[in-house]
Parts: sequence; structure tokens; C-alpha cells
Amino acid sequence: MLASITWSLCLGLALEVSCAPSVHVPQALRRQSTDNFTSYSLPPLESSGLNNSVRASAITVKADTFLYGPSIAGNTSFWPTGSLGNSTVNADYSALSTDSPLDETNVEDDVAVVTKTIEAAGGLKQLSDYELLYKNQWKKSLPEGVDVGVLTNYTNDLLFSMERLSVNPYSIKRLDPSDTLAFQVDNGTATNITGTTLSELLNSGSLFYVDHRDQATLESTGRFAAYCDAYFYIHPLSGDFLPLAIRTNTGSNLIYTPADTSNDWLLAKMMFNLNDFWHSQWYHLGALHNVLEIIWEAAYRTLSDEHPIMALLKRLSIKIFGYRVSAITNLINKGGLIDKSFAFTGAAAGVSTTRLYQSGAAGNFQSNYFYQNLQGRGLYNNTFGPKIKSYPFLEDASVIHTSIQSVITTFVDSYYTSPSSFQQDQELQAWIAEAKPAKIMDFPSSVDRQTLIDILTQFAFLGSAAHQTLNTNDLAEVKGTLPFHPASLYQAPPENKGVTDLMPFLPPANASIQQLVLLGLFARPNFVNSNVSLSQMFNDATMLGKMNTKVADASATFEKEMLAQSEAIAARSFDKDGLSQGMPFIWRSLDPQRAPYYLTI
Ligand SMILES: *[C@@H]1O[C@H](CO)[C@@H](O)[C@H](O)[C@H]1NC(C)=O
Ligand SMILES: *[C@@H]1O[C@H](CO)[C@@H](O)[C@H](O)[C@H]1NC(C)=O
Ligand SMILES: *[C@@H]1O[C@H](CO)[C@@H](O)[C@H](O)[C@H]1NC(C)=O
Ligand SMILES: *[C@@H]1O[C@H](CO)[C@@H](O)[C@H](O)[C@H]1NC(C)=O
Ligand SMILES: *[C@@H]1O[C@H](CO)[C@@H](O)[C@H](O)[C@H]1NC(C)=O
Ligand SMILES: *[C@@H]1O[C@H](CO)[C@@H](O)[C@H](O)[C@H]1NC(C)=O
Ligand SMILES: *[C@@H]1O[C@H](CO)[C@@H](O)[C@H](O)[C@H]1NC(C)=O
Ligand SMILES: *[C@@H]1O[C@H](CO)[C@@H](O)[C@H](O)[C@H]1NC(C)=O
Ligand SMILES: *[C@@H]1O[C@H](CO)[C@@H](O)[C@H](O)[C@H]1NC(C)=O
Ligand SMILES: *[C@@H]1O[C@H](CO)[C@@H](O)[C@H](O)[C@H]1NC(C)=O
Ligand SMILES: [Fe+2]
Repeated sequence: MLASITWSLCLGLALEVSCAPSVHVPQALRRQSTDNFTSYSLPPLESSGLNNSVRASAITVKADTFLYGPSIAGNTSFWPTGSLGNSTVNADYSALSTDSPLDETNVEDDVAVVTKTIEAAGGLKQLSDYELLYKNQWKKSLPEGVDVGVLTNYTNDLLFSMERLSVNPYSIKRLDPSDTLAFQVDNGTATNITGTTLSELLNSGSLFYVDHRDQATLESTGRFAAYCDAYFYIHPLSGDFLPLAIRTNTGSNLIYTPADTSNDWLLAKMMFNLNDFWHSQWYHLGALHNVLEIIWEAAYRTLSDEHPIMALLKRLSIKIFGYRVSAITNLINKGGLIDKSFAFTGAAAGVSTTRLYQSGAAGNFQSNYFYQNLQGRGLYNNTFGPKIKSYPFLEDASVIHTSIQSVITTFVDSYYTSPSSFQQDQELQAWIAEAKPAKIMDFPSSVDRQTLIDILTQFAFLGSAAHQTLNTNDLAEVKGTLPFHPASLYQAPPENKGVTDLMPFLPPANASIQQLVLLGLFARPNFVNSNVSLSQMFNDATMLGKMNTKVADASATFEKEMLAQSEAIAARSFDKDGLSQGMPFIWRSLDPQRAPYYLTI
């Protein structure tokens, strides 16, 4: 079986430069590193007597040649077109392509080693054999290995439930006592598991819900999936956040609980993970990439390149238009990496991205501000239910959010020195007004100090902490680890309980390796402790040299805070109960020295 593994070695998400679209990029239109103003500035006031016409006409040139075109990779935000739009996309994609050959070679070398190992072992014959995929493997592409605990403790219910509060924190919500329950769990079963009934959990604000039923309508690759919805709850006595029930919504529509046999319940959790993994990736594309892209586009068409906000946005979004091209070239294209591993096709990925974006769940801007997003789902400052005892995403992301907000506040205050200065900045006003033609969903319609701080903080947060949570290293380190997180089932979900062998449902050896190849291509070991680490977000000497001096001081403080946070995360270990942040694995994703500061592949 293993002999039939055929690796297409041009698997890379970003190909060699020669594969890039062949639009010629005139040097003058490249946007990287050509800012040679001695300092960034707000547009001069009319009353200053300074002649603004050169600056204004440069903006007009941009607005005339960087246009909004049809979306690609799903129907989400506008995609750049026009001569400058095209050349910008092309330059970004070319720059992205030069990033990756190193990572690709690493993955290829690792594949050769793991393939030999599995062959020597005679394939994957039982659940514990999946450990062979990791033990002394992926030395080049994932040198520091997967998160500690994830391979040893995955049958622990806390590992499953706490992933909803860490590795994909965007799918779960707390139910309100007035909500209608999607399905019932009978009183006896619920009481045996939780000590109380489903309706009591609901009434006390202790019941949580994830709904992936919409995946039932996605195009299948021919492999299999359930379309799970599930309940989680806060235990009335221990306060632990735990799983209660998983419904498959396919075939005989079984409802699984922890009271089932260990095989049945483990399979149910794996089926749920498949759906949640899918959700996390297309949410990531819609909520992070597509939102930041359109905000950037609107800014670029309205702000001078001399404007400090434009300089900041450029710093925070390197190669921002490379990723969707990479996605349609290598990932969601027919026969691409998604088709190769997932239960749903690359085309279905576009459908999921579109749905998540257009519904506002991913596409809305203000309602997805860090705290508002959590509050909207009953996960923060909730008034009717018990507090979540341990909340790793909130714990780690809030540290980064607070530090980002602090730099941004200094930045804004250094340029906008009076309440009227926001109104007087015609370019800023034009950017805010541009949200309408750009169709930025839920963007502020007017701007004052707090609004601008919020916009820029969220821009920086989405591209860094939020992105790292859902993508990049996290995929290989935990989100897609096997056997607990299969991208596809290899047999239809069972019609009856009592499954004795999970192996027929799980990816066979070659498909497992293919899944880990896909994840490995997103890992960025060479970005750890580098000049693109999250701690370095604002640390661009050239940019800071052209900004007000207070911004450089704020950047230095930011770096210090992030390095301290990195040390705290690197020092994490298990407590006496074998838990870290209340989870049976050690989550490292938001270590500011491991995470890149901008959304990368
Ligand atoms: C800025 O750079 C451009 C191209 O790199 C050059 O043509 C121009 O003269 C420079 N302007 C200043 C003020 O240095
Ligand atoms: C501003 O400068 C431009 C180009 O240098 C010139 O054509 C224009 O007449 C000036 N306008 C005023 C009001 O001085
Ligand atoms: C994309 O979505 C927009 C907004 O819902 C809609 O007007 C447009 O027709 C859609 N385009 C395509 C190609 O489906
Ligand atoms: C920009 O690219 C699009 C898509 O490839 C193309 O249709 C359009 O003609 C290009 N526009 C210019 C001005 O090059
Ligand atoms: C609840 O647990 C008891 C004791 O294990 C068992 O006898 C009973 O069948 C369980 N009830 C349900 C509805 O599963
Ligand atoms: C289940 O428990 C609820 C209270 O939590 C009660 O109102 C309901 O009647 C019970 N249902 C059955 C079938 O006993
Ligand atoms: C959350 O609640 C606390 C305490 O009531 C309050 O101080 C804080 O401002 C709230 N946070 C947000 C983002 O609303
Ligand atoms: C794995 O091997 C099977 C059986 O030979 C083949 O059908 C399948 O395409 C292979 N999968 C991958 C990802 O190579
Ligand atoms: C990081 O350093 C590399 C190598 O010196 C350089 O090419 C790259 O532009 C730097 N990136 C940033 C964002 O500073
Ligand atoms: C999780 O795994 C580690 C070893 O990898 C172990 O030390 C720890 O006790 C485990 N935690 C639980 C809750 O089983
Ligand atoms: Fe991404």
C-alpha cells in the first residue's frame, strides 16, 4: 500500500517565482520599501497655506488605478484590479513565493523519513500506531514537535472540550435560557453525566453549543464526514468545561455522549473535530484575510503613502495580496491540497468561506472586535451564567491585545493632538467614507480618537494573535494532529453504536502523511525568534524613524512586554492534575516569539 504513495513535490502553497502570474511589475508601482519621505505626516490643513496638490494627485492616481474587482477564492471582499491593483497583487504573490522553497524542502525530506518508518512497521494497524507518525519525525519542518500532551491525552474529555476555548475559539457560543434547544438529551443520561438535566443546564446559563450542520450541503470529495452539532457545559460542581453530547446529522442521526462506549465516544469526538477543523480554516480566510484585505484596499485608495496610518497598515500586512492567489493556485483548486485530504472539496471551501463572511460571523468588523466577539457569544462579561474557569484563548490573546492597544493609543495620540484633528484629516475622513463603496461590513461610519484606536488595534490583532490561533504553526502543532483530528473519514459514519475498530474510519498511512504534509507546509519554524516574530510587530527602524518619537518608545515597551509573555509561555508545564491552563496539553500558539506578527501562510 505504501509503495503507492506518489508525492507531487510541487506541493508548496507558494510556488517558485516562475509560477507566479506573469503581469509585468513596473518598479515605480511596487509598493514595498519605496517610501522615502523623511517623515510621515497628516495632510496639511488648508489654513496652513501649504500646497497639498501633489499629495492629493498622488492619491487620485492610486484611486484611479487600484480598483475593486470581483472576489476570488469565494465571494467575499473585493479583489484588487486595475493596473496598480494587479501589479500590487502580483508583487505580493512573487514576494510570498520566495518565502517558501526552504519550508517545502524540509517537508519533503521529512516525508522520506516518515514513509520509511511506516513501511518498516508494516503500516498503521491500530490506533497507537499513529504515534509512529510523530516519534522522531518532522525534524526539519516541525523541529520542536507537536504540543506536549496532545498525542498522549487525546482521549481525555477535557482535551476535546478545551480545544473549543483555545485552538478554535470561534465556533462555540453559550446558550441563553430563552434559546430553543436543537436536540434533547434525556434526563437520565444527562443526570448521569452532569449531575443535572439539560434544561437545568440551559436555565442556569451553563450550556454551550456548536453547530456545524450547514456542512451537510457541501460538495464531498468522495470521502466521508458527519455534520455535527454538539453541547458542552460547565459542570455544576467542578466548574470544569466539558462535552455533553454530539449529534451526527447523517444516516441514523446518532446522538453520542460520554456515557457511550469509549470507542463510540472517541469516534464521535473525531467526527466533530473534522467539522470544527473545517470551520476554523474558512473562518480564518474570511474573518482575517478577507477583512484585512478590504480595509487595506480602502485605505490605499484614500490615504497618501505619506500618511502614518498607511505606513502602519503596510508594516502590519506584508504580502497581504499573495495569499488568496496562493489559495486558488495550490490549496482550493481542483486536485489541490484540500481535495487531497479533506472530506469536502476545494470548491466547498469557497462556499464555506462565502457563507461565513457574508453572514457577518466572519465578515463583520466592529462586532468582531476581540472582546465584543467573545461577549456576543456569551463567553466574556456574561451576565446570566457561571464564569468560564479557565479560558486559554482569552488568557493569552488578551495580553497581546492589551499591548497592541497601548502602542496604537500612543501612535494615534502622537498624530491627533486635539478632538478636531480627526475631522480635519481629510484623508482619514475619506478612508472611513470609502467603507461604503468598498462594502466593508460593519465598519465605523465616523471616526474619533477611540474609533481610530479600535480600528487599528483590531487590524493588528486579527493579523497576528487571531491568525496564529487559527493557522500557521498551530495546524501542525495541535489543530490537525492525528489520530484525533482527521481531515476526512474513510468510511461512512456508523448507523449504529457499538463500533469495535476505529481504524477503518481513520486516514490510512499515505493519507495521514498527506495530511501532515499539508499542515507542515503552514508551519514556520524559521520564523521563531526572528524579525517577524509577534514581539517585533512595530520594530521597523525605517518606519519608526519617520514616525513621531513616542511611537518608537511604545514599540520598545511592546517588545519588552511580549518577550516577558514569551518567557511565561515557554515555561508552562503540567500542574499536579496533569493540566496546563486547565487543559491536558501545553498550548504554545500565542507565544509572541513563535507566532509571526502578520498573517502569513
Ligand atoms: C524617492 O525614491 C524615488 C524612487 O526610488 C526617487 O525617484 C525619488 O527621487 C526619491 N525622492 C526623494 C525625495 O528622495
Ligand atoms: C500647487 O502646486 C502645484 C504643483 O506644484 C501647482 O500647479 C499649483 O498651482 C499650486 N497651487 C497653489 C494654490 O499654489
Ligand atoms: C457575490 O455576493 C454579492 C453580495 O451578496 C452578490 O451581489 C453577487 O452577485 C455575488 N457574486 C457572485 C459571483 O455570486
Ligand atoms: C487586471 O487583472 C484582471 C484579472 O486578471 C484583468 O481582467 C484586467 O484586465 C487587468 N487590468 C489591467 C488594467 O491590467
Ligand atoms: C445512569 O447510571 C446508572 C448507574 O451507572 C445506570 O444504571 C443507568 O442505566 C444510567 N441511566 C441512563 C439513562 O443511562
Ligand atoms: C426532565 O427534567 C425536567 C427538569 O429539568 C423536567 O421538567 C421534565 O419533566 C423531565 N422530563 C422527564 C421526561 O422526566
Ligand atoms: C467587562 O466587565 C468588566 C467588569 O464589569 C468591565 O470593567 C469591563 O469594561 C468589561 N469589558 C468590556 C470589554 O466590556
Ligand atoms: C493512498 O493509497 C490509496 C490506495 O492505493 C489510493 O487510492 C489513494 O489515492 C492514496 N492516497 C494518497 C493521499 O496518496
Ligand atoms: C527580516 O530579515 C530578513 C533577512 O535579513 C529580511 O529579508 C526581511 O525583509 C526582514 N523582514 C522584516 C519584516 O523586517
Ligand atoms: C498529559 O500528558 C502528560 C505527558 O505527555 C502527562 O504528564 C500529564 O499528566 C497528562 N495529563 C493528563 C490530565 O492526563
Ligand atoms: Fe492565513
